[in-house]
Amino acid sequence: MDIPTIQYIIQEAVDSGIEEILIITNSNKHCMENHFDRSYELEERLKQSGKQEEYDTICRIANMANIYYVRQKEPRGLGHAILCAKSFVGNEAFAVLLGDDVVVNEGAAPALRQLLDVYEEYGASVVGVQTVPHEFVNRYGIVEPAKAMKNGSRRVKVSDLIEKPALEDAPSDLAILGRYVLTPEIFEILETQEPGKNGEIQLTDAIRSLLFSQAVYAYDFEGVRYDVGDKFGFIKATVDFALKRDDVKAQLMDYIKQLAEQL
Ligand code: G1P
Repeated sequence: MDIPTIQYIIQEAVDSGIEEILIITNSNKHCMENHFDRSYELEERLKQSGKQEEYDTICRIANMANIYYVRQKEPRGLGHAILCAKSFVGNEAFAVLLGDDVVVNEGAAPALRQLLDVYEEYGASVVGVQTVPHEFVNRYGIVEPAKAMKNGSRRVKVSDLIEKPALEDAPSDLAILGRYVLTPEIFEILETQEPGKNGEIQLTDAIRSLLFSQAVYAYDFEGVRYDVGDKFGFIKATVDFALKRDDVKAQLMDYIKQLAEQL
């Protein structure tokens, strides 16, 4: 609606305690930089016309965090995009949130915060996973857990990972859903990572190589995840988010009822 999906992702990072954010973009995405920047003209206009709520909203956007941008010059895959962050990150662990995965965990810890807690517990990389229907395992990075996940523990050590396997090759139905906390050693691996699935430099392959020298954990995070890169996923997210908003909820419900009557 009036909030671009990237803002939900940034909000999740900020709510998880992240203060420095690097957005990896491409040459078509200037509008993002403008969205998170201050617009003095607009701020002034809103202030003058007494639109306090709108004024607060745009100031909040600009002040959410320190946001930086780097361009991935060629589309060589997610692993290559992450490598573009190497000098920004330096020698520290860092979080990755993919722009197509919006996760809502209302009133409770955001997905990334849950992963950061696990990182703090083990000092090792953590990938955020959820169970997906078997017919969809070929859309995701799939983890092989070292043992069965204990009831209620939500975490397990990873023994292998595979990017977008065919169902018969999938070691589990635990899919990586766009949230990672990674140690900086991943960059050295990415520098020499050969292209994998679909000819792209895959982050999943690099995490697999990381397993030779470090432990990696999977965490089955709590929250509803929307794939906003998928057309239907985007529609679902838009409807669900709109149903939570007082300004459009009633109208939308009437419209849905009307539509349902015609089915
Ligand atoms: C990427 C990753 C994949 C992960 C997915 C989550 O794939 O390569 O491992 O499971 O994001 O959304 P993409 O959706 O960019 O093809």
